[in-house]
Amino acid sequence: MTVPEDSLLKFEIPEVIYGIGSLSQIGNCCRRMGGERIFLVTDPGLIAAGWIDASINYLSEEDLQYVVYDNVVTNPRDFQVEQGAELYRRKNCDVIAAVGGGSPIDTAKGIGILTSNHGRIHEYEGANLVTQPIPPLVCAPSTAGTGADVSQFAVIANKRTKEKMTILSRAITPDITLVDPQLLTTKPAELVAATGMDTLTHAIEAFVSSLSWPMTDPHAIHAIELVREHLANATQTKDIEALEGMSIACLEAGMAFSNAILGAVHALAHPLGGLFDIHHGLANSLLLPVVIRENLEHVPAKFAKIARALGAETRTRSIDDVAQEVPHQVEQLIGELELPTRLSQVGVDGADIPRLAQMAEADICMLTNPHCYRQSEIEAMYSEVL
Ligand SMILES: [Fe+2]
Repeated sequence: MTVPEDSLLKFEIPEVIYGIGSLSQIGNCCRRMGGERIFLVTDPGLIAAGWIDASINYLSEEDLQYVVYDNVVTNPRDFQVEQGAELYRRKNCDVIAAVGGGSPIDTAKGIGILTSNHGRIHEYEGANLVTQPIPPLVCAPSTAGTGADVSQFAVIANKRTKEKMTILSRAITPDITLVDPQLLTTKPAELVAATGMDTLTHAIEAFVSSLSWPMTDPHAIHAIELVREHLANATQTKDIEALEGMSIACLEAGMAFSNAILGAVHALAHPLGGLFDIHHGLANSLLLPVVIRENLEHVPAKFAKIARALGAETRTRSIDDVAQEVPHQVEQLIGELELPTRLSQVGVDGADIPRLAQMAEADICMLTNPHCYRQSEIEAMYSEVL
């Protein structure tokens, strides 16, 4: 008997090396992956902060050759992936290392897809269309937000249409992630806050996803508890203990969402990144409370557990009553982080909403939300936070 693959559950994560100073293992890890000539993907901010000089030293200690590719921006573009893949081939590289936030890591995944699957990156938008293994991929995340270093997702913007293409495939899960909380110390406070809200969104969406299961749920709930405990402090003081807490939160939320997939917050956030270049974490933060309010009635028991993880007192109260607390808890956290709360504050106009909603309805992340919203319902959600 053959069991259809889509009726099975899976849990896939990379090898994880965690701790202050773990970036020093990058040379050893690339060597272990069989590398001789490493394609190092990063962005100019990481170079300015000194992390690429450090990485190069660690590669050199292992007698590895390297090529640095840093033409990466927030919301990475298709042409940057294609340019990187061309350089990878021309320089005969054999292992990819990504040092940075979600943008360099997603760019690295896109480069990996093109070097082994050929064609254009646009052909791989959707689920499980990457059929050939990508080159070995070693990551060192510099933000506690995206979870791209453990996930099977890559999101690349189409320069021509400004749409964000979500690529979802087990073939692009990195091989090794080096989670070094020290890399977070050079990030500005607003980025720590926004990427932290991305982590919270990953954890909440994974927990309420229609594909959540006992291997993903404990990680999602623990990530929510860690965000509650550490995000405000990590943002305001950059205390290393708080940054360590957020590193683990990001890691666990990434493990949960990569396997349980996401939901309507990400479906609505992706068009904001594509059309307006709004930071991904901030886009999620803007939309998280309104989507939670809509989702509550579909899975109240799950939201009651989220409320408890966010610190709600639950004894003697009904599930529905506790669940109702979640949007307020999230809004209170956003207030502490001093992030914008209205779409109009980030350049969105009411006239943009129909196009945003059309794109959000078609986003792959909507499929695993507790309820699939129609375009008119999505327009109402955008309007509520305008
Ligand atoms: Fe995200």
